[in-house]
Amino acid sequence: MSNNKKNVLSAIQPTGDIHLGNYLGAVKNWVRLQEMYNCTYGVVDYHAMTMPYKAKNLRENTWKMIFQLLACGVKAENLFIQSMIPEHAELCWILGNVCSYGELSRMTQFKDKTSQLKDTDKDAFISSGLFYYPVMQAADILIYHADFVPVGKDQEQHLELSRNIAQRFNHQFGKEYFTHPEPLYTESAKIMSLANPEKKMSKSLGEKHYVNIFGDEARIRKQVKSAVTDTGDSNGEMSTGVANLFALLKATGREAAHASLSIDFTEGNLKYSDLKHELAEGLVAMCQPIKERYTEINNNKKEYKNQIKQSSAEIRKVAAQTLREVKELTGIMNAK
Ligand code: TRP
Repeated sequence: MSNNKKNVLSAIQPTGDIHLGNYLGAVKNWVRLQEMYNCTYGVVDYHAMTMPYKAKNLRENTWKMIFQLLACGVKAENLFIQSMIPEHAELCWILGNVCSYGELSRMTQFKDKTSQLKDTDKDAFISSGLFYYPVMQAADILIYHADFVPVGKDQEQHLELSRNIAQRFNHQFGKEYFTHPEPLYTESAKIMSLANPEKKMSKSLGEKHYVNIFGDEARIRKQVKSAVTDTGDSNGEMSTGVANLFALLKATGREAAHASLSIDFTEGNLKYSDLKHELAEGLVAMCQPIKERYTEINNNKKEYKNQIKQSSAEIRKVAAQTLREVKELTGIMNAK
């Protein structure tokens, strides 16, 4: 990181497949940012332990997420696996002491996830890991002195907490040590579910709500065909469902089709089947090269795993340096 470029850090949980919403909302942007910044991107498996999960699936999902990110165009040298850099967990512990119980209690994602768990089972186990999650996130960010963090609006509060933690640490230990990370919001539209355009596209809503970019062509076409458009009388205004289809079409890069179909809409003679046809073609074309790279990666898994072990070891050097300095500042013993 010896050039003059600013540092970008972001991370994603190993949730299984990257769906269209993740790709257009986050990953595509990560790929683009690599041209302009020093980018470091993590697959955060420690974060994934905070909600109920199966041990047997976690490691598999972590590698799967890595392979899919590579297929989307994230460079191996910029990628790490969180648990391969134990300094994250160590810094998390230290930062927990400059973050108050009250601050963590105000995190809306904690409240949302808690009620989500309690909805399925009123006696659900709520781990303190879930409560502590934002401190780990702050450690992920601060350990690399990130200037910018590309995230969605739902992470705004966590990022603000990271800034507060940095500020309190700097104040308490008498040095402007940690950088104050700023959010980098993506301009891309929030992608909604095709089956229920009132909700954000998400895997947790169920199969028919998200588009798997690694899935087969026929499924993508079928999903677009059955996408919800109008749900009632809209008085000439564009419904959320149709707006979502237009946003998606734009995101696939089909500018000309987008422009001409928009005119059709304004003139009141838009045929949904035309819009859906263009969108399906756009999506299939967009996914094609990604799927090809994914197949190639899957045929050479071992080689790609080694690359990621190596890049994690390189990235770890930066994290270890931060931790040595943090231990100096906080009075904790340094082994070397
Ligand atoms: N909390 C983030 C999410 O759910 C994932 C995450 C963990 C993250 N650590 C991070 C995002 C650091 C940005 C930076 O999307």
